[in-house]
Amino acid sequence: MLGSLRGRIVGAILLVTLAGMVQSLLISDPLIEGQETRRMERELAAIARTTVTRLVRGGEAHDVAEQVGSLASAHVVIFGPEGELLGDSAQLRPTGERLRDTLTEDSRASEVMSARTEGSGTSVRAPLGSRTDRLFVAVRAERGVVVRVDRALTPVDEMRSNLRFVIVGVGAAALLLAWLLSELLTRSLARPIAEIARAADSLTAGDIGVRVRSERDDELGGLGRSFDRMADAIDQRIARMGSEEAQLRTILDAMVEGVFVTDREGRIQLTNAALQRLAGRVEGRTAVEAIRSADLHEAVAGALRGVESSVTIETRLGLDPRILAAQVAPLPGRKGVVAVLHDVTELKLADTVRRDFVANASHELRTPLTAIRGFAETLADGAIGDPVLAKRFLGRILEHSVRLQRLVDDLLELSRAESPDVVFTLEPVDVSAAVAKALRGLERNATEKQITLGVEGLGSTALFVQADAVALDHVLVNLIDNGVKYTPEGGHVTVRVRAADDDYAELEVADTGGGIAQQHLSRIFERFYRVDSGRAREIGGTGLGLAIVKHFAQRMGGEVTVESKLGRGTTFLVRLRRARPSGAGA
Ligand SMILES: Nc1ncnc2c1ncn2[C@@H]1O[C@H](COP(=O)(O)OP(=O)(O)OP(=O)(O)O)[C@@H](O)[C@H]1O
Ligand SMILES: [Mg+2]
Repeated sequence: MLGSLRGRIVGAILLVTLAGMVQSLLISDPLIEGQETRRMERELAAIARTTVTRLVRGGEAHDVAEQVGSLASAHVVIFGPEGELLGDSAQLRPTGERLRDTLTEDSRASEVMSARTEGSGTSVRAPLGSRTDRLFVAVRAERGVVVRVDRALTPVDEMRSNLRFVIVGVGAAALLLAWLLSELLTRSLARPIAEIARAADSLTAGDIGVRVRSERDDELGGLGRSFDRMADAIDQRIARMGSEEAQLRTILDAMVEGVFVTDREGRIQLTNAALQRLAGRVEGRTAVEAIRSADLHEAVAGALRGVESSVTIETRLGLDPRILAAQVAPLPGRKGVVAVLHDVTELKLADTVRRDFVANASHELRTPLTAIRGFAETLADGAIGDPVLAKRFLGRILEHSVRLQRLVDDLLELSRAESPDVVFTLEPVDVSAAVAKALRGLERNATEKQITLGVEGLGSTALFVQADAVALDHVLVNLIDNGVKYTPEGGHVTVRVRAADDDYAELEVADTGGGIAQQHLSRIFERFYRVDSGRAREIGGTGLGLAIVKHFAQRMGGEVTVESKLGRGTTFLVRLRRARPSGAGA
């Protein structure tokens, strides 16, 4: 209880009251003693003077002592000039010798001696053979006679103990009152304080709405109102922080780059949406656990020591090999590290593809050019004189020129398909008409190889797709041309057309050829990719056809896929958006 505020206040008040009581006790004793002794002294002096007066009037000494002694209830003694006892209220009539012997000592007491020399004397002492203090007052009478009056100090002691009793009684009552008062006071103080403490605890626990709302107008009321103002301020600050955090979150999540922030130990505390797309949920893990890369680990360790760095890291996220450009910097106060990761895989890939393309294109161009130059030089060296040889060489030159021409045409077509500057005008195109046109163009090639071309699904209702007519023609011609080229004699190439659903139409080009092995399927749409480059080149292919098909399909808002089984044939599927025929109304 003493630990509590209430305990302390009650304790303090009780202590003060108690101290007051003890002090009164201590002070009262000497005070009473002094006062009472002086009063008795005056009384005894008066009795002594009365005795002297009676002696002067001619009273016999011993009688006077007895009369005055019994009247004033005091012990009166009268000494002669030699110190002899003339009268004593406490004794029978003196009988000479005996009295003189007993009182010789007493006549030399200090108060008697002072009375003889100075006229009066006082002393407090216990007489011989007694333990009680007595007050002795002596005065000088005429002719060397000294009158001494004494009385026991017992009444003073009695008064003193009476007073003590009163002080203790009053003190006890005061203590009780003090205790009651302090209880009331502390109760009225402790309750509002406890209320404020409770509110503070709730606030700490997260109850932002808690308020004291004190209506007192003393200091505690002021404290309560101060608390409320503080809670308001905290409330506002939290709201502001919340909106700032939301803002920061939005910015972070809108970033293309992945961001993570670590603590002092290098554990990830914060990530953004882009990083979660890259590496999943990685909070609580270390950077290197999230993204396996020695370079990143080193950069993070460096940043924890305060060194900023940027590194390009090659890693695997899931199964995907990824290349990330990472900027790693220390947080202010070395509280951790912030890292910004930019996925440059596509960029690097595009770079490689571009380089490969240039190399491939140069290689493809060089082959026919070298052949043409060789034949031309041989002719120039004299073969021109031999008509048979010359004809054969010119035939080869022509053949290679055609090949060169086709290559250049395909490259131009491809760059057209890839260039964002080239606008594709998409309009409703009648599928049956487009298919018929493509088939017509390839009829001769097919007939030569004894391959039958077929169409399925062109029913009575016309099917329209959203397409660029020229691009769609390229797509169909390329796919049907492949079918004819890669299907042995006597095979079939079939074009199937159907509406997949309300939105899409599907154009299928299926052949009965040798098919394409699984490992090539994902690559045949790459530029210059040929399954069997020797044979394909022999047939006249450049490996650009399917790349062009893919791009055209995409530019028309569609896609192209392939299915193939070795020895069973290949099926290309083109999906395009359906359209309503122009002029047919809504
Ligand atoms: N229907 C098919 N059957 C079997 N293999 C095919 C078929 N279509 C394409 N291929 C394979 O895919 C490769 C790429 O085809 P793509 O059309 O891009 O090139 P290409 O036909 O060789 O040359 P281009 O079409 O430019 O004349 C071909 O070389 C061939 O190996
Ligand atoms: Mg082709």
